Amino acid sequence: MLIKKIVVWFVFISFLFSCKDGKIQQIKTQIIPVPSNQEIIKGSFELNNTSGLSFDSEFKVSAAFLKAFIEDGSSITLKENNVISFIKDSTINHSEGYKLEVTPKSIEIRAKTDHGAFYAVQSVRQLLPTEFENGTFSDKKVLIPCITIKDEPQFTYRGMHLDVGRHLFSVDFIKKYIDALAMLKMNTFHWHLTEDQGWRIEIKKYPKLQEIAAYRNETLIGHYNTQPQLFDSKKYGGYYTQEEIKDVVAYAQERFVTIIPEIELPGHSQAAIAAYPELGCTGEQVDVATKWGVFDDIYCSKDASFDFLENVLDEVLELFPSTYIHIGGDEAPKTRWKTCNDCQNRIASEGLKGEHELQNYFITRIEQYLNSKGRQIIGWDEILEGGLAPNASVMSWRGTNGAIEAAKKGHQVIMTPTSHCYFDYYQSDNENEPIAIGGYLPLEKVYEFNPIPEGLTSDESKFILGAQGNLWTEYMSTEAQVEYMAFPRMIAMSEVVWSSSESKNYPDFISRLEQFHKRLDTLQINYANHLYEVEGELKSEGYQLKTLTKDKTIRYTLDSSEPKLHSELYEKPIPIDKSTTIKAAVFNSGKQLGSTFVQSINYHKAIDQNISINIEPNAAYSGSGASGLINGISGSNSRYGDKEWLGFWGEDLVITLNFESETSINEIKTRFHNGNGQWIYAPKTILVKFDNGEFSEYDLNASDELIKNWTMNFNSIAAKQITLSIPNFGKIPEGNQGSGHKAWTFIDEIIIN
Ligand code: ACM
Ligand code: ZN
Repeated sequence: MLIKKIVVWFVFISFLFSCKDGKIQQIKTQIIPVPSNQEIIKGSFELNNTSGLSFDSEFKVSAAFLKAFIEDGSSITLKENNVISFIKDSTINHSEGYKLEVTPKSIEIRAKTDHGAFYAVQSVRQLLPTEFENGTFSDKKVLIPCITIKDEPQFTYRGMHLDVGRHLFSVDFIKKYIDALAMLKMNTFHWHLTEDQGWRIEIKKYPKLQEIAAYRNETLIGHYNTQPQLFDSKKYGGYYTQEEIKDVVAYAQERFVTIIPEIELPGHSQAAIAAYPELGCTGEQVDVATKWGVFDDIYCSKDASFDFLENVLDEVLELFPSTYIHIGGDEAPKTRWKTCNDCQNRIASEGLKGEHELQNYFITRIEQYLNSKGRQIIGWDEILEGGLAPNASVMSWRGTNGAIEAAKKGHQVIMTPTSHCYFDYYQSDNENEPIAIGGYLPLEKVYEFNPIPEGLTSDESKFILGAQGNLWTEYMSTEAQVEYMAFPRMIAMSEVVWSSSESKNYPDFISRLEQFHKRLDTLQINYANHLYEVEGELKSEGYQLKTLTKDKTIRYTLDSSEPKLHSELYEKPIPIDKSTTIKAAVFNSGKQLGSTFVQSINYHKAIDQNISINIEPNAAYSGSGASGLINGISGSNSRYGDKEWLGFWGEDLVITLNFESETSINEIKTRFHNGNGQWIYAPKTILVKFDNGEFSEYDLNASDELIKNWTMNFNSIAAKQITLSIPNFGKIPEGNQGSGHKAWTFIDEIIIN
């Protein structure tokens, strides 16, 4: 017992103070999201069987949570006294803010509301050993460092989304997800309940939603872009009963998490139309979708659709007390509406200018219905097209333009741009990652996200309520995989929406996250651990390797062998003057920690030459800038957002390469990404010009390959300059995701041989 006590003290003291030059230096706690103000004071509070809790009924939820956390987590039983007290403090401005004071004698939690006190409790939780999380703390006492914290959130909307349409997850899992949100001081769970591939909420008035819309006959295997598409021949589905939903809503309320249900309309509704074909324009039978994408069969704008949706919403409102109801609004192709008599009659009788205004009519009519019931709508940013419903809040996902437009019009906005908030994208460029939809969103990019888009005045910025991470589950068929994609990016997002920019710091976040892993382990959360991976970058001094966490070594090889404990120690950038494959890994205490990093560098004639592009790449996809196009490194086939790909939205490109001296050109190669589902289209033509006046125009054959390789051969043309003119693909064709919008161009390396 004595040894254990000494160990506890040692851990505690090293956590509190590090000695430098003989002086005691204060360090911060490990709390995530980092509090706005925290001061550690010398000393500690001992929590033991004499400690008690006092609170009045105003703090019953947060006090009950703390009592259960301590008593279920350890063998400590709390008395009834005011050693730990909850105190109402109306001088605290923010309803979710709190003050926490731990002294040697007491713990005081001050807040204006139970909600604020709940977040003080979440901070206390993170000051306690991780064994409390699963009830394995066996000692009868524990030391908590003396500390004063004053804390409040930066944003009022702090959310996570989960799509249960593509894959369904158990009620227990939904609760576990809500628990994690609460621990991270997030307050909103956006529950995406209806999809083309499955309807997941019981609606008693419409039994076929349960019998038919909740099940699909089979599911696509592998990635959508893999040809030929194969299916698993297994019926898949299910739904949440109203009793289960009530249980989940109550569970969330006890954790100050508001659940916003999403009932998609008018698009992403093929499952409902499969159950009730009369809701579509054609009346024809369709199946619940078995693969991913955007589908033409959407609700018809006839009165019967509104009757159906209003009846559905009546039951939804009974279950969900949230002010906001998400009505979708995204990705609704107008194909069926264009040839439907009912829809065309509606356009005529309402005096609408075409199908886009019909979409606005649809959303506004639903908005009016929900407003009449005292609720407000949120819709994806497509609801801006054809005019915005008068009171709608906008969830901005396709970049930030929708956010800016909505905020300037005085509408509330929630930020979920794909570039920073889509946790279905790859998080590591390691090729061994489990299959994901595409894209690349590493932890640091999430962490650096600023929810306030550029271009808003400070008054307009007030309309930005906050941000949310989205988990679309096409490629997450298991709960373990949802956790893998959600963590740790959700943890970074919690700091984006809670912590002040002054208190945020990425290296500091990483060191806290490394500690936090132990808590996640105890909670049996299957987080992705990429903290021990190697990151590489080609610099003028050579190839630079680094890793995120402190006190680790990197070892590497240049002969394609696996890096081992005795391989070359990385100390400074590795000079590169020929084609090379670098393999590297992080080592600590005699063993390899993360996975092996592999980078091939193709040393071609354009390396170290001069390159310019007529325009800057889009800020969200700026890779390593123009010079990244001639650094010898190609982008990842599946991750167009990595350091090597440059993305341009709708612009025509003119890329100019200048050689130091006349160079003999035999071959030019480059690649374009062609992930049509993400609105990315390889260009149709390229014009190549040399400074000697020679030029050639090339067509790229249309095809659905994910990566378009393009090679041109020449007969030793001597040139000092090459210009590539690459017109944008143009508008996305009808019937495809994003139809009618500008296509993206993504290009990676330009190889000159
Ligand atoms: C969306 O990702 N379709 C909102
Ligand atoms: Zn119609």
